Parts: sequence; C-alpha cells; structure tokens
Amino acid sequence: MADSPSPKQAAGIAAAKHVKTGTILGLGTGSTVAFFLDALAERMKKEGLQVIGVPTSVETAEKCKELGIPLATLEEQPVIDLVVDGADEVDPEFRLIKGGGGALLREKIVAAAGTKVIIIIGGGKRVDRLGTTFLLPVEVLPFGYLSIRERVAQLGECKPYVRNTEAGEPFVTDNGNYILDCRFENGIADPNQLHATLSQIPGVIEVGLFLDLCHIVIEGGDDGTVVTLQR
Ligand code: 5RP
Repeated sequence: MADSPSPKQAAGIAAAKHVKTGTILGLGTGSTVAFFLDALAERMKKEGLQVIGVPTSVETAEKCKELGIPLATLEEQPVIDLVVDGADEVDPEFRLIKGGGGALLREKIVAAAGTKVIIIIGGGKRVDRLGTTFLLPVEVLPFGYLSIRERVAQLGECKPYVRNTEAGEPFVTDNGNYILDCRFENGIADPNQLHATLSQIPGVIEVGLFLDLCHIVIEGGDDGTVVTLQR
C-alpha cells in the first residue's frame, strides 16, 4: 500500500483539484506550494489541464520551468483568477503571517490581484493569536536598515532581528531588500493597528501580515486527509 502523503503534500494535492482549465494562477512560495506545483503538473500531464502561472519568487519560477508549467508576469496578466500560497500562521479570522521564505512582498501583490486566494498549510499553523509561534517578517530597504530596525523596536511591541544567511550576511529578497523578523512576547494584540503603524515607518516596504486576503484555508492532516475552511 502506498504511504499516505505528508500534511503539506495532502494540502497541495487538494488545492490542485480546485484548478480549472484556462485559469490564470498566482503561484506562492514555499515547501507546501512545491507539493501543489507537483500535483498541478501531474494534472496537466494526465488530464491536459491548461493554466498560466504568475510566480511570486525566483524559486517558484524555477520549479515551474522544471515542471513545464507555463508562466507569465503580473504585467502580462494583471488580474489573477486563483492564488494558491502557503502561510506561517493562520488565525480564526483568516488573517495570516507570511514571509518565512522571504517572498512576502510579491506574495502580497499577487494575492491582492487575485479574485480568490487559497492558503495551504500543514499542521501546527492555525493559531488563536498571530505572532505566538512565528516571528513577523517585515521587508525593509537596505538603505538605513539599522535605523529602520531601531524605529520598529521603539514602538515597544516587539524585538526586531535582521534575518541573516548562514554566512552571517543579511538575507536579500528577490527585490533586493532585507527582512526584519519581529518577535512578539505575547503575540500581536491588534494586527490591523500594527500593520498600519509599521507601514508608516519610512523604509518599511511590506509587512508580513495578510489581513483580508484569504478566502479558503486547506489544512493537511497526519493521515493524508484535509480540512477545508471557507470564509
Ligand atoms: C514564503 C511564505 C511561505 O508561504 C510560508 O513561509 C510557508 O512556507 P512553507 O509552505 O514552506 O511552510 O510566506 O514567503
């Protein structure tokens, strides 16, 4: 008997079933999305399903090229039918923390261009309060990034850390920016307020809070089953 898929794989396979031929598809980033892309490519091969993908990262674009998934830019396809992406945390109001892979800026632009957004997750990512299990990523301009970090720290709500590579250099996003990972001692009390406050700091490019951008959550379980939550 075949092994049951992992929770992330199960979520990816389930999301691929939502795709119809002719769909303009926003393609998120991360390990769960990689399973979705595999399942999508399988359907394209077996069923002749045709889609055009708009990738949110270089990583995703490269995987699509390997799998033979046709791609377009957001300039070529400015309106997206369906976006499939992962998340680092999901709260009961379908608000998300994203950016663990550093792709939050393009992910947010693509999600905002999408008519429908499906978020796929493995276990342990549904939380009562955002910021309790994961640091909040904030994309910032390299110019003055330590001053920007200081301004974020001065808000008094979190401790911001510059994300580094293994070599100890600042991690650089696909857009040439840096990431501050922000630790909240007791989670984020008011995500809307925090988003507004952080966005006002000069040099903050994007905040990894996705507050009104998710319609469906598909969560994979240990036994290969999935739970689908609809807003
Ligand atoms: C990348 C993201 C990812 O979607 C998020 O980090 C989840 O990743 P994974 O599916 O590998 O757990 O926001 O910027």
